[in-house]
Amino acid sequence: MGKKIVMLGILCGILTFIGCHFSTETPPTFANNEPGSMSTTYHEQFAYNQFVKQASSSINLMMPFYLADGGLSRTIQNCETYIQVENILGKKEQPLEEKTEEQEQPPAKEDGKQKRIALTFDDGPHQYVTEQILTTLQKHEVKATFFMLGQNVAKYPEIVKKADALGHEIASHTWSHKNLTKLSAKQMQAEINRANEAIYDAIEKYPASYRPPYGAIDEKVREAILLKPVLWNIDTLDWYHKTPAKTLANLKAQAKNNGIVLMHDIHQQSADALEDVILYLKEEGYEFVTTSELL
Ligand code: NI
Repeated sequence: MGKKIVMLGILCGILTFIGCHFSTETPPTFANNEPGSMSTTYHEQFAYNQFVKQASSSINLMMPFYLADGGLSRTIQNCETYIQVENILGKKEQPLEEKTEEQEQPPAKEDGKQKRIALTFDDGPHQYVTEQILTTLQKHEVKATFFMLGQNVAKYPEIVKKADALGHEIASHTWSHKNLTKLSAKQMQAEINRANEAIYDAIEKYPASYRPPYGAIDEKVREAILLKPVLWNIDTLDWYHKTPAKTLANLKAQAKNNGIVLMHDIHQQSADALEDVILYLKEEGYEFVTTSELL
């Protein structure tokens, strides 16, 4: 009986030892994370670069993607998935550093130069909204470009003067916001000249550029108007949804180097969105310039 207990004891000891042995051996094969242990490593590493690239160029921050086997892009469904991917890839980053160094750019720079962006505000000046926008811009030491409507300039010349004195660029948005492509050359010129004079009356200088209302421009307009036309390539659609969070989301999705952001200084919600817009772009390393400095 005693012998049996001793034998059982020894047997249990051996089994326990084997159990521990396996349980301490098994995890390191995962922890070591040898390249061969994961067939998708290359794609995921590549995916990480894609994600960083995607995020830094801010094409669509809301929907990061990675490349699955076969190189097809897949949207990362939720935050947890992204964290998992990031953790796996974070460990793998070093060996491929040499290879990816040229592809990856530091977030604040592109081609070794500072990223630049121009904030523009159309359709003002507005009695209250433009004032609020000027205050926010001053607080963050940001210079912007105002494409002002001549008829509003004539109404609120003091606001135009203030914007000019604060170092912002005053440009023209024509006199009365007509679609220039529907006008005769004479009518187009009247729209431009009248706005030019109103701006000159306010700040004693003429604008260097204009933005055609609705972005409507064709060869006829270009021929008739010698002032430089300035359009935009980042549309917040602030005038349409009138929602500060959407203005910010649209900006995040489109922000890029040499971008010209379209906003309007006649809607309260646009003014309310501005601070977050500026903070985001500063965080992303953008330098704020006027459109004349950019183009
Ligand atoms: Ni407009």
